[in-house]
Amino acid sequence: MATVYAVLLTLHNINRWLVLVTGVWTLIRAVPGIRRRSPFTPADRRPLTAFTGTVHLQLILGLLLYAFLGMQGAPVFAGASNVGFQWQHLGLGVLAAITATVGSALSRRTPTDQGKFRVATTWTAVTLLLVLLLIPWWRPLVRLFTV
Ligand code: HEM
Repeated sequence: MATVYAVLLTLHNINRWLVLVTGVWTLIRAVPGIRRRSPFTPADRRPLTAFTGTVHLQLILGLLLYAFLGMQGAPVFAGASNVGFQWQHLGLGVLAAITATVGSALSRRTPTDQGKFRVATTWTAVTLLLVLLLIPWWRPLVRLFTV
């Protein structure tokens, strides 16, 4: 069973970098678009969709990890200096999935191109901030199937 935990933890660890990279990629495309008055193209939509997808995947992997540790009766984030960290991690993680989804949905509904760039920028920046706050930075930066 330690193998299941190692696999889930590895995927959750690596996907964290995909979340951060796609979030920064979204901002790199969206921020200049606000000023330039350029059309919001599929190339601008792509990073936003990838960002939302990686955040959703992270939520699913996190829920699986919680369920797995719960079934084993194992502590979550044992050794964290902040005892409430597991709730902070879970709460901010769910909130990040909501803000990423809102950003993606609102940018589709906003009628103007400038509005789409603005919505993508704002909601992605908020989501990235939440993600930066919830990451347990004391854990390994890259984990490859170890516990
Ligand atoms: C974008 C959101 C999230 C990011 C960036 C993130 C990132 C991380 C990272 C970097 C770790 C440490 C991995 C390691 O030790 O190798 C971790 C552990 C974990 N995360 Fe997340 N996480 C997110 C959301 C969530 C959510 C929403 C949940 C629960 C629903 C969750 C549950 C967990 C659990 C259970 C652990 C393992 C704790 C342990 O081993 O004791 N995560 N997360």
